[in-house]
Amino acid sequence: MLLQIHTFPDPILKQVAQSIEVFDDALRKTADDMLETMYASNGIGLAAIQVAILKQLVVVDLLSGSEDESERDPHIFVNPNITEQSGETISEEGCLSVEEFRAEVKRAERITLEYQDVEGQPHTLVAEDLMAICIQHELDHLRGVLFIDHLPSLKQKMVKRRLAKQVRLSA
Ligand code: NI
Repeated sequence: MLLQIHTFPDPILKQVAQSIEVFDDALRKTADDMLETMYASNGIGLAAIQVAILKQLVVVDLLSGSEDESERDPHIFVNPNITEQSGETISEEGCLSVEEFRAEVKRAERITLEYQDVEGQPHTLVAEDLMAICIQHELDHLRGVLFIDHLPSLKQKMVKRRLAKQVRLSA
């Protein structure tokens, strides 16, 4: 089932996600719906907050653009938490919740992520480069932070004003 992606300046994007304690069919269904929604939108990551579910749930697939479904590489992270990070990397980011805008953001180059799968089993993942960047971007969503919140304050104000205006004009 496709879910509706909420976009800036929707206040839901500033909410903080709650941890998941029940690992049931509903959780699996939500994760599957999020993956389907992400693929349909050509995104490489989606946090539950973006579809108005205030839970610590994130999906990522760097091969999202693959025509062939068998070449996809879906990841589901429940209650994800970055426990170590190192290095610095700057790259251009976009977001399914921030339409038609991209900007360079500084992130850690390498991270260690602890998370649970949909069964509740704990895992540790060491990620670098795009995977690490994508995970940091998605985990930001779980605490109500967008990539545009990382921009210098003056640029951030300008960009947010412009994005809010676009929304009003297209509504
Ligand atoms: Ni995003």
